[in-house]
Amino acid sequence: MKGIILHGGHGTRLRPLTHTGPKQLLPIANKPMSQYCVESLKSAGITDIAIVIGGIGSKKVKDYYGTGTKFGVNFTFIEQDSPKGIAHAINLCKNFIGNEKFVVFLGDNLMTKSINEIVKKFNNSKVDAFLLLCEVDNPSQFGVAKIIDGKIKNIIEKPKNPVSNLAVTGIYFFQPHIFDIFPTLKPSWRNELEIVDAIQIMINNNLNVEFEIITEFWKDTGTPTDIINANTKILQSISSVSANDFPGLDISGLVSVGKNTEIHKNAKIIGPALIGNNCIIEPDTLIGPNTTIGDNCHLSACRIENSIVMSNCKITSDVHLKNSIIAFNCQILKKNTLSHQNTFLLGEGTNITL
Ligand code: TTP
Repeated sequence: MKGIILHGGHGTRLRPLTHTGPKQLLPIANKPMSQYCVESLKSAGITDIAIVIGGIGSKKVKDYYGTGTKFGVNFTFIEQDSPKGIAHAINLCKNFIGNEKFVVFLGDNLMTKSINEIVKKFNNSKVDAFLLLCEVDNPSQFGVAKIIDGKIKNIIEKPKNPVSNLAVTGIYFFQPHIFDIFPTLKPSWRNELEIVDAIQIMINNNLNVEFEIITEFWKDTGTPTDIINANTKILQSISSVSANDFPGLDISGLVSVGKNTEIHKNAKIIGPALIGNNCIIEPDTLIGPNTTIGDNCHLSACRIENSIVMSNCKITSDVHLKNSIIAFNCQILKKNTLSHQNTFLLGEGTNITL
């Protein structure tokens, strides 16, 4: 089997974070979110992987993933000239897939479930398409499956009155004959070629579209809140340092600290929290819970909770950040001694003096 990871799209809901790169490279627990897809495919033995790229972030994706050697896989980059839809992006991979069965991951979908067993089952079956469904609280924001007698009858994209709370996740298993359907698709109301429409055609033609309802964590990380929630979830499984490794420091819960990171006395870390390499955490800084700090950050006398601070940031004000995302290379500096509680969504390279 082969794999496809979709790494294009508009990313409008994540602006300004997506002004300087694709959302799929935004870090969750200090790792680009699409790398979780790569690892999932590799773990299932799928090492021939196409990455569909497009827009300003393309070079960053190629630079990060390279040939794949670093990740133990082979990458083929396929350019999508503009985000014309998920089905359009998959269709660009027709030659790459050839006659093989394949798995598609939307590169912004994070799932803790292993696909290993499903890959084995799908490989040995005649099933035409296999979908993973997940119960959600807000079905009207997803493609929703209507199931009758154990079979999917309809998939309705973003329904006003949802027929179920079963969202179709962004991890799909297909036979190569789905490529016969793509040329027959018409653009949807949002002017995209929809994968849901291709699957609906398969269902209407009585092809065998099967599914599993997953109970593990799954998140389509389209918005800042989704990203903070996904980060919180992934932090629950980090391997933690022991408080004994940092005598004299106030550390509690699951806490991971990278190489060469200095944490000064009078700093407090409340897990789950992940701090990258080469950071300086000065006195009177409070980090956590549910917080990731990237590499090479310098934090001083600030409080950061339920937030993501990406690499190379400097925060030296008395600021109290909550539910915030601070992109790479930002600075929040101090001018006066006032203490603030703020929620920031800062694009790359932002400088703020409070
Ligand atoms: P979406 O999240 O539906 O769309 P988007 O990325 O354009 O974001 P927004 O709605 O905030 O503007 O895309 C789902 C996934 O598919 C995501 O990983 C991006 C990817 N994608 C492509 O690679 N090509 C495309 O043409 C589209 C529409 C999405």
